[in-house]
Amino acid sequence: MKTANQDIKPVTTKINENGNIEIGGCDLTDLANKYGTPLYIFDEATIRAMAKSYKDAFKDYPKINMMFAAKAFMTKAICRIMQQEGFGLDLCSGGEIYTAKNAGFDMSNTLFNGNNKSFDELNFAIEAGVKTISVDNFFELALLNDIAKSHNKQVKILLRITPGIECHTHEYIQTGHLDSKFGFDLTQLDEAVELIIDEYKNLDFTGLHAHIGSQIFEKQVYYDEVGVIFKELKRIKDKYSITLTQVNLGGGLGIKYTKDDEPISVYDFAKTLIESIEKHSKEYEIEEPEIFIEPGRSMVGTSGVTIYTAGSSKKVPKGRKYQAVDGGMSDNARPSLYQAKYTVEIANKPEVKELAKVTIAGKHCESGDILAKDIMLPETEEGDIICFYSTGAYGYSMSSNYNRVLKPAAVLVNNGKSDIIINRLTYEQLCESDIIPDRLN
Ligand code: LLP
Repeated sequence: MKTANQDIKPVTTKINENGNIEIGGCDLTDLANKYGTPLYIFDEATIRAMAKSYKDAFKDYPKINMMFAAKAFMTKAICRIMQQEGFGLDLCSGGEIYTAKNAGFDMSNTLFNGNNKSFDELNFAIEAGVKTISVDNFFELALLNDIAKSHNKQVKILLRITPGIECHTHEYIQTGHLDSKFGFDLTQLDEAVELIIDEYKNLDFTGLHAHIGSQIFEKQVYYDEVGVIFKELKRIKDKYSITLTQVNLGGGLGIKYTKDDEPISVYDFAKTLIESIEKHSKEYEIEEPEIFIEPGRSMVGTSGVTIYTAGSSKKVPKGRKYQAVDGGMSDNARPSLYQAKYTVEIANKPEVKELAKVTIAGKHCESGDILAKDIMLPETEEGDIICFYSTGAYGYSMSSNYNRVLKPAAVLVNNGKSDIIINRLTYEQLCESDIIPDRLN
């Protein structure tokens, strides 16, 4: 069965009676008028459809824990939706822990990842009641044990490992290959286990964690990931008589940015994992463990679009047409960071058949600030509302105030209603943290 991550557009997208693009029952040009641009728009129905697909797909594996990888898009409203859908949260910084807590999220359904968690962050995680911490390295093992001891607590931990699986994704978003900054190399695992057994009495070692990369389209790498981890479970059981009951397989399922992308469905993803879990549990004679998955991009990516207003344009003599918009690399860093490609339409004239080649440029003082290069669109004009699809993941979460540009607002749309979930930053807020020291007066 097809799932929403296999479509480019949110599930409610249509062209309405005014000939404009509508999402969640809201005309994008109306949203532009009401809230201004650039604007992130999130379709609640698509987020919930993805949540439902994940739950359906794993219903035959009751020992599943789905943890939304908050790094993809973290706000208080999203925390609320994830909680309603029965998802936990994979958190990766003090700020994400704070946001979850501040949103009233059930912290007993959270875990904490990261390759350089600070003393303050680990301390805060324990105080805030984060359930499990995925320990990344030797330094953190010692640090966390000390902190746990000072709280007189046993802290549940997983050990993050690099399973040595290469997947075909952008180098910057690969994480599971051997030369990676994340996790213990498999050859270091025994040393870590022995330290836990002999010295770190405040750590309750319950399982292993791996994350092999992001925007993954292949099934085989997931199958193999389970194999590598289960082999370690078996080895640890035989060598140390420790039965690990939890395995965190990370996130990574891809979404469709352009027609050339062919992500697998959530059902195929789940089927692959479950088949591999069953096969390897039998092979290694271990009880099927509790499984965690941490989908980020696939949960929210397709639900989000960004709209911009077209401003100046430039036709280079015998060269390109550049159409500038009122946002750019500050609200979507992905094109300049990863050469990421998007599907683009003009919300106020999606049906015009005659197309021309155009490059959509951001407004930042930087030549590399190009949002989409050489794409085919109806002739762009000043005032057009330009819609970029599938910006829901790693768009807002990687946004900045570069050039002191204000971070855009975000709205959640559903059944013709739109609600602000993030206010547009204001000029006052922009200067709020700035201080002129007395000696400069
Ligand atoms: N778990 C861990 C430990 C992770 O490091 C990540 C993502 C996830 C889960 C969620 O992966 P997802 O399901 O979203 O693929 N900024 C990049 C993506 C970086 C992903 C980092 N880790 C981008 O915009 O493509």
